[in-house]
Amino acid sequence: MRPKLVVGNWKLNTRRDEAQALAQALAAGWSGSAQVRLVVCPPAVHIPVVAAALEGSRVALGAQNLAEQPEGAFTGEIAGEMLADYGCGFVIVGHSERRALFGETNAVVASKMLRALDSGLTPIVCIGETLAEREAGQVEAVIGAQLDALVAAATAGLAGIVLAYEPIWAIGTGQTASPAQAQAVHAFIRGRLSAANPAWADVPVLYGGSVKADNAASLFAEQDIDGALVGGASLAADDFLAIGQQALQA
Ligand code: 13P
Repeated sequence: MRPKLVVGNWKLNTRRDEAQALAQALAAGWSGSAQVRLVVCPPAVHIPVVAAALEGSRVALGAQNLAEQPEGAFTGEIAGEMLADYGCGFVIVGHSERRALFGETNAVVASKMLRALDSGLTPIVCIGETLAEREAGQVEAVIGAQLDALVAAATAGLAGIVLAYEPIWAIGTGQTASPAQAQAVHAFIRGRLSAANPAWADVPVLYGGSVKADNAASLFAEQDIDGALVGGASLAADDFLAIGQQALQA
């Protein structure tokens, strides 16, 4: 069985004290397991505070974004190596908010994925369709194109990445994809990756979009759902820990 990953994306939330308290509560409340990894991705500026709060715990640290470049004249950017220096092991790449609001194309996302790998970080690469695309019957075409861009860029392969399927219509809306809807897309993703290279059959595929403590178990019960990328419910320690517990019991 593939181990599960439960990742909290704090987005643009938490002031310094809140970030510290949330990380301390997670560190105290999670005893860890080989079967489930818990990861938090705070705003970049809080990474040192959160890293200190998580020290010695079984909760891992990630970032929400990284620069496409390793260094140089790129004002305001943060390189993968810098994130690694501060204790990050993961980085979210190509979240739909970055694609829609900050112009990240499939090509930019693929290039950031490679930068993450080069920096020693595990990229959590997000893919997903809009409601209009779903209603037009284009889910597989959209997801397929997003995957193809990753496959084309990854000359050294995709074995070290994590994927997150986040249907855009389910993000922050309370409208979770049903377990069957999510499973259908996850199976499509796994099939497409295994067809490209059998060694990629075990790339973890997380589900994201209104995951809560009360719907996580039914999602985790699906064969091809390897965990969750959690937004809103990752901002309350009890809720996020409860999702972690659901993954342990899956
Ligand atoms: P919500 O869990 O708030 O819907 O956010 C999902 C998400 O975008 C995680 O990256």
